[in-house]
Amino acid sequence: MEVIIKQDYDEICEEAAKIIHQAWKKKNNLVLGLPTGKTPLGLYRRLIEIHKKEEMDFSQVATFSLDEYLGLKEDHPQGFAHYMATNFFQHVNIKRENIFRLKGTPENIEDHCREYEEKIRRIGGIDLQILGIGRNGHIGFNEPSASLSSRTRVKTLTEETIEANSRLFKNSEVPRFCLTMGIGTIMESKMIILLASGEDKNEAIQKSVEGPITASVPASILQLHPQAKIIIDQEAASLLAGRDYYHWVYRNKERVVDFLEKKK
Ligand code: PGA
Repeated sequence: MEVIIKQDYDEICEEAAKIIHQAWKKKNNLVLGLPTGKTPLGLYRRLIEIHKKEEMDFSQVATFSLDEYLGLKEDHPQGFAHYMATNFFQHVNIKRENIFRLKGTPENIEDHCREYEEKIRRIGGIDLQILGIGRNGHIGFNEPSASLSSRTRVKTLTEETIEANSRLFKNSEVPRFCLTMGIGTIMESKMIILLASGEDKNEAIQKSVEGPITASVPASILQLHPQAKIIIDQEAASLLAGRDYYHWVYRNKERVVDFLEKKK
């Protein structure tokens, strides 16, 4: 697990965009797993800028949505389809047929989840999964106690998550159920970037990075992933005991590459 601590929100978005851009240079048909929420908005803005400068072409890129509220129609303003279209897809040249998402109103939920997993497998897996984190440590909508090997399925949101989301919905319609990629599904991605900004995420980050691996803090499972990058700002990092070491590792990253090159 690599912990990258940046000054502020803009810098974490910049860093994540840089990693995605580099990954795309190596593989133009990059398969991305993408979240909604407020955290990734700056990342999407940065990727749009890179695209507008003609430095990144999305025509072969495919995307899979991380989760979706159950019961929301495609055009609902808080649904994944609408969020992604307005904040990202409309501004880049991604092809419609390369956008895969969980539906809020599937005919048969179990078939839909199984088929979604099958689509991920058929395309060759997700190269790079972007994640936010809930204040309770959730990733996707895998709330505390979710099985660490779970697959895409229905979950019941916690009251805390419903409360956090209520600012986005009129009270009567805050969804209580969702579909989400499972933790096992997420962990099969070749690389994972988790983004967090702000003091209200510092406890979740501390437990995920430095606490025990436990279903009570779903993001702690990322400690087992060989290519997980936790990109956070100073406020989200404020409770980490190993902050100095993480900075030190980051500063020495290029030196280690030089060192290994010279050894060849
Ligand atoms: P946020 O949500 O980016 O809106 O804080 C993150 C999450 O709940 O996963």
